[in-house]
This record gives sequence, structure tokens and C-alpha cells, in this order.
Amino acid sequence: MNNNIFTAKEIRQSFLDFFQSKGHRVVPSAPVVPHGDPTLLFTNAGMNQFKDVFLGTGERDYKRAVDTQKCIRVSGKHNDLEEVGVDTYHHTFFEMLGNWSFGDYYKEEAILWAWELLTEVWKLPKERLYATVFRTDDEAFNIWKKYLPENQIQRFNEKDNFWEMGETGPCGPCSEIHFDKTPDLSGAKLVNMGSPDVIEIWNLVFIQYNRNLNGELEPLKAKHVDTGMGFERIVSVIQNKQSNYETDVFMPLINHISELSGKKYTNELNNSDSIAMRVIADHIRTLSFAIADGALPGNEGRSYVLRRILRRASRYSRNLGFKEPMIYKLLPTLISTLGDVFPEIVHEQNTISRVIKAEEENFLATLERGLAKFDDILNNIKSQNLNIISGEDAFLLYDTFGFPLDLTQLIAREKGFDVDSAGFNENMANQRERSRQARKITNEEVISLDSNFITEFTGYNEFVTKTKILFVEKNKVILDKTPFYAESGGQVSDTGILEINGTIYNVVDIQKVGNARIHICNTEISAQVGDVAIAKVDIARRNKIMRNHSATHLLHEALKRVLGNHIKQAGSLVTSTYLRFDFNHFEKIPADKLSEIEHIVNLKIFEAIDVKVQEMTLEQARNNQSIKMFFGDKYGDIVRSVTMDEDFSIELCGGTHIKNTSEIGFFKILSESAIAAGVRRIEAITSIELENYISDLNNKIEQNIKEKENLKSQIKQLEKNLNSIKLQEIASDTENIIAQSMQINGINIITKEIANSDLDALRSIGDEIRNRTSKNTIALLASVNNDKVQLCCVVTDDLKAQYPAGKLVGKAARFLNGGGGGKPHLATAGGKDIEKLPLLLNIFPDLIFEK
Ligand code: SER
Repeated sequence: MNNNIFTAKEIRQSFLDFFQSKGHRVVPSAPVVPHGDPTLLFTNAGMNQFKDVFLGTGERDYKRAVDTQKCIRVSGKHNDLEEVGVDTYHHTFFEMLGNWSFGDYYKEEAILWAWELLTEVWKLPKERLYATVFRTDDEAFNIWKKYLPENQIQRFNEKDNFWEMGETGPCGPCSEIHFDKTPDLSGAKLVNMGSPDVIEIWNLVFIQYNRNLNGELEPLKAKHVDTGMGFERIVSVIQNKQSNYETDVFMPLINHISELSGKKYTNELNNSDSIAMRVIADHIRTLSFAIADGALPGNEGRSYVLRRILRRASRYSRNLGFKEPMIYKLLPTLISTLGDVFPEIVHEQNTISRVIKAEEENFLATLERGLAKFDDILNNIKSQNLNIISGEDAFLLYDTFGFPLDLTQLIAREKGFDVDSAGFNENMANQRERSRQARKITNEEVISLDSNFITEFTGYNEFVTKTKILFVEKNKVILDKTPFYAESGGQVSDTGILEINGTIYNVVDIQKVGNARIHICNTEISAQVGDVAIAKVDIARRNKIMRNHSATHLLHEALKRVLGNHIKQAGSLVTSTYLRFDFNHFEKIPADKLSEIEHIVNLKIFEAIDVKVQEMTLEQARNNQSIKMFFGDKYGDIVRSVTMDEDFSIELCGGTHIKNTSEIGFFKILSESAIAAGVRRIEAITSIELENYISDLNNKIEQNIKEKENLKSQIKQLEKNLNSIKLQEIASDTENIIAQSMQINGINIITKEIANSDLDALRSIGDEIRNRTSKNTIALLASVNNDKVQLCCVVTDDLKAQYPAGKLVGKAARFLNGGGGGKPHLATAGGKDIEKLPLLLNIFPDLIFEK
């Protein structure tokens, strides 16, 4: 073998260099999260990004391409999940090295170059290479005969040698190259037998058909070449390893796991610790790349696949003894091996790490209890001499403890049990049915209208377009040109009217099917193909939508500036009344930060910046670091950038925008909330919508003022009520107090501490005593408030000249180290020595008569 090309990095580069030297354009990997292809959850092959070229609906400005493509295979037609970790050469995430011909070279060159690279550049031993061809492909067979003896060329049927992207899509016969790792070169019978000793390293697909929705093969206009080589496998071959995990692609991760767990990695296939390490080393890659490209773990579709992967890894980490999150800790190691090839994992490392950690925490919180429940279920089954977990139990584990079905199956399998997955699905379907009821069904009729029409969009520049009918049926019409925007990139569809033969039709929705835009009206249209139609967009509504769309771009950048570079759009909705922006962030945004974000947007509005729209090649866009592009969005070769201040916001966007930021008027955030772990949502309004907002605020303020006034008068009324209750209480208290008077020297003397009262209450009681007794009575009333004693002395009129209350209360107060005085019939005072109060009340008669 070639000793100069040995590390994973060198091997990858030599592949790209080799095909570049054969006239191939080196292109970047597409994101692993494909948007715009509903037939795919994840990018599962290098050819995905060229599907449109194969089908003839798209073009590139090159005829040959080469790349390394990030792939995930966990669901659908190509699903390797079960084998991962258990064997040594399947992965949920892997790199696929590929070279393509778009209607250019075909079998002859594809095979020649594969041979040249493998045997001349990498110098793999020829006797260890096997080629396979589709059973009827004599052409490929004969080409191979130039390089290999016939006993190293084998024919296989559809299962192995007819490659298809999915249920539908480009496909064709293929020729695979397998490598024999057996020590004694005994691999001939092991080709395509699932043996780790003879593995497929390269697949050359000769794309010539499209599998359509009816399952039929339609020949394509041109013939293409699509090759894919498992990068991790070829590295293991060149580095002479039995397992992909022993290469420098995986060893750093395995070593890190081994270090964290204190367990040793061995190459034995059945060692459970080593299986766990392989699974975790594999899964951290899938999770990191999917999250970097904008996916997040969650409950639906693609998100749920990620959650399943994470929970699978998390459960294996527990097998290694971890009770705390650990998977996220491997990220720096992953970055050290792949960060230079795929810088997105470097840019997104904070997001990746926090999302994984949060998900691990989340799952670990119920994992113990879930495993305990699992044991209960198994014991119960065993006691009934059964060996299958019921659908109901599997659903319980899913619904209550978050065990994905495949995890339940995995654990069951480890313990020798089966799972009734049909029963599980039934339980699941019942639950789904309930939520489906609530969901709006989209216009399936329209979606299924398979259209080859092309509608030119004029709505970037005009609101009214004179156009022609290409197709009409019931309430649907396709025009050759239209100013109506069809929902895309979060911006809602336009509404408006069509004027056809003097009749006005209201357009309530627009849908894109292929390159056509279908206008859906609220009444049946009577017209013929070829008739002229005047299409008029509802301008006022469209203007509002454009303001909100441009404001969304400003908001996006303001979020980045205030919260950090990790902010990435996770979703957006732009309507005529408000805008909604979802983005990755991990905590609630404090009020002061929200104001700052709002302020930045408003400053940009007041700067009255011209909005610049430019077309450029995707390549140019990719080379400009400050342009926001969305991983996962499907871009053509020519893209459209929208700039609001070169130093502020540049985004690739197909939406419609205002001409100057000042048209936005004003920007106001209405709410900020969480919609999923690590995803926040801002809702905001602009321009004229502020009018309603402000008048609502005004109404609220007026309402508040009214309520406050109502409350005030209620309080007054309550105070009155309280006073009269107090007076009644005083009246009845007074009776008791008078009853306790003592007669000394012929005078009725009352001394009394009254709890929970104040000077006013003492006065009232004093007055009442004077009223009720009317003569021959002296009273000293006291209460303790705030560390002070308050005193009130009353004297009936017949005694007040001889025993003036002012004097008496003065004496009493001095006894408590205080002072005071007042009228002869009623006087008040205060004293400091609370503790002497009881004594004062005892000796008060003495003070009265003291000379
Ligand atoms: N599309 C083929 C594969 O995925 C070759 O690239 O194997």
C-alpha cells in the first residue's frame, strides 16, 4: 500500500485530488438535514443533492463533481441502525466519498478511474479486490475483465446490485467493489454475505431510471454516474485494521470514552462494554452533525429519530456506569478530528453541546425508573411463562418513561424477549388519531396535481401582471406569469384577485407544485386555457407582509449581536399581521436584553437603509462569511441575497422585501417563550399594527385607572364598615371594663390594658366609659404599641376639677419614664418602660390620691 497516504485526512484529500485531476469540480457536502425533499428524513447518499440533475429538473454549471458527503442512515430504505456498534463497519453517520457524471462519462471511465485510484494511487493489493455487477450487466462485466480475473467478478440480483435512492427517485444497476480482509484470501464466497471480513468499499451506480410513484421505472433522458465510497471503511482498509473503530477516525472518541468510564476498549465483538463504546462513538457523530445542520431532538419525524439515537446512546452510557450526562463531553474530541473538514461543528459547538446535555439530563431523569418498570414487566411476563412484551406495556414505557420502541426492542432482545410492535403501533395510532383530528388537512387534491407547467414569478417587481391561463379546473388556475407569492421560507402566500373575461375571482391561496404556481379561488372559474387574466395582488396586505419579512431579517441579526453567534433560525412565519421567529437558544431572554434587541432593530429602521437585492452564484454566497444561509435550505446555483446595511444583515432569501427599512415604521416584540428544549420563539409586530397595539395598551391603561378608582372607593367603604364594627366591639368591651372597676375612697377606679388597640381606640373607650358611668369614675387605659406604652386617662365631670385627667396621666407617664397631658376630662400620654406597666396599673389609685 501507499505509505504516503495513510491518515484519514490524507485519504480523504487524495480522493478529492484524484477526481479533481480528472476534471471533476470539488463541491461542498450538502447539509445532512435535507429540506425541500419530503421523501428523505436525512441525507443518506452523496447523490441526494444532485437528484434534480438526474431527473432533469435541475442543472449545474459542471458535468463532473466530487465531494465527501455527510450521510445519516437510520430510517427508510437505507437503515443501518441495528448493526451499528454490534458490528465493526456500519454507522448511523458516515462520510461518503463520491464522484459523479451528469450525462457525461459512463461505465467505462467510472470503472477505469475507480481501479486506478484503488490500485495505483492507494496501491491496494489487486488480489484482495472483488467486483460485482447486476446480473444482466454484461457491459460492466466486460469492462471489469480488463482489470480483474473472471473469478473476482460476480453477478448479483436486484437486492445487491440495483441501487435505489428510496421508494421513489433516481436509480439504476450498480457495480460494487469489495475488499477481502481474510488472512488466507478466502473471501470469494463471502462477498455480499454480511461478513466483516469482506466488505463493500465502493458502489458505482449507473443511474438511468426514475422509480415513479406507481413503482414503475421510467428511463431518464441522460445516463449518469453516481459513486459512493464508505470513507470510514476505506480508511480501515488502508490502515490495515479489522474494524472501522480502530482507525484514527474513531479511536480518539473511543479513547475518550474509555478514559471517562475507566473501562478498557477491546476489539472483541461480543464484549458489552466495547459495544457500548462503539455505539456512543458512532452516535455522537450523528447527533453533532444533525444538530449543527439545524435539526433538534424532539417528538416528530426527523427530530424523533435524533431523540431515539440519543436515548439509545444514553442507555449504553448507563451500561458503562454513567449516571450523569457524558455524551456531550465527547464533542471537543470530535471537533479535533473533523472540525477542519466540517467547520459547522466548530461554529455550532455551544448549541450541539447544550442540546445533547439537556437531552441526556432529560432522559436520565426517568431512565432509572423506566428500567425498574422494565424489570417489573419482564418479571410479570416470566411468571406467565410468556416471552413477549405486550404492545400496551411497550407503549407505557414509551409514553411515561420516554423509551422509544427500538430501545425497548433492544433491551428486550438483550434479555431474550420479544416486543409486540404491532400492538405498540396500534396504541400509538390511537394516540395519533386523537391529535390528527385537530390538525388541518392541507389541500391534498392540489398537491397531487402533478404539474409540468412553469409559472414565472413577477412579484418581486410588480403587483399587477397581465398573464395567460395555462391550466384551469374548478377553482384552480395555473398562469404563465404571476405576481402572487406562494408560501415559502415562512412567508405566507399572497391573496388578491384575478380578472378573467370581465369577471373578478378572489384568490385565497397559492400553492407551488414543481415550477407551477396554482391559484386557488373561492369560486369556480369559467375560462379556457389561453384566456388572458389580470392578476392583482392585495397590495396593502403584501406591503405588511414585506415589512414583517424585512423586520425578521433585522431581528435575526439583532439576536445574534445581543445573544451571540450561536443564534440560528429554527423556523419563521411572516404574515401580514405579525412575525414569528424561532431560534436556538438555551434560556429565557431577560427583559433588558429583549429591549436591547428591539432597540437595535428600531435603530436600523430609523437609519432608513435601502434594501439591496442581488443575485449571485451559490459559490460566491458560500465564500462570503457574513451571508446568512440556512443549513437545510435547498439553494439553486443562482441565489438571491437581501442586504440591509452590508455591515448588518445579509441573508439568502427568496422572499419579498420592502425597498427601505424606514417603511417598517417601528418594531415591537410582543412575546418571548420556549417552544422546545433549546428553542425559543419571538413574536413581534411592525408598522401599522402598532396602532392597534398602542390603542389596546391605552384601553388597558384606562381600564386600570378605572379599576384602581373602584378599588379605592371599595377600600373606603370597607374602612367605614370596619370602624363601625370596631365601635360596636368597643361598646361591648366598655361594659366589661366598667364591671371590673374597684371602689377606693368612694371613687370607682378603672385600670386596664387593652390589647391590640391604639390611642384612638383608647380615647373612644375612655369617652364611652365617661358616657356610661356619667359620674364618680376615674379610668386609666393603656395599650402597648411599637415598644411604647400609650395611656389615656378619663375623669367624669363631677371629679375633673379635683382630679384633672391631665395631671393624673402625667404622673402615670412619668412612672413609665415618659410624659404627656391634656384636658381635665380626658388626657393622653406615652411611656417607655413597658415592663413597668403592670405595676403602674396596680398602683394608679395611689397616684390619684397622692398629695
Ligand atoms: N448512491 C449510491 C450509494 O449510496 C452510490 O453513491 O451507495
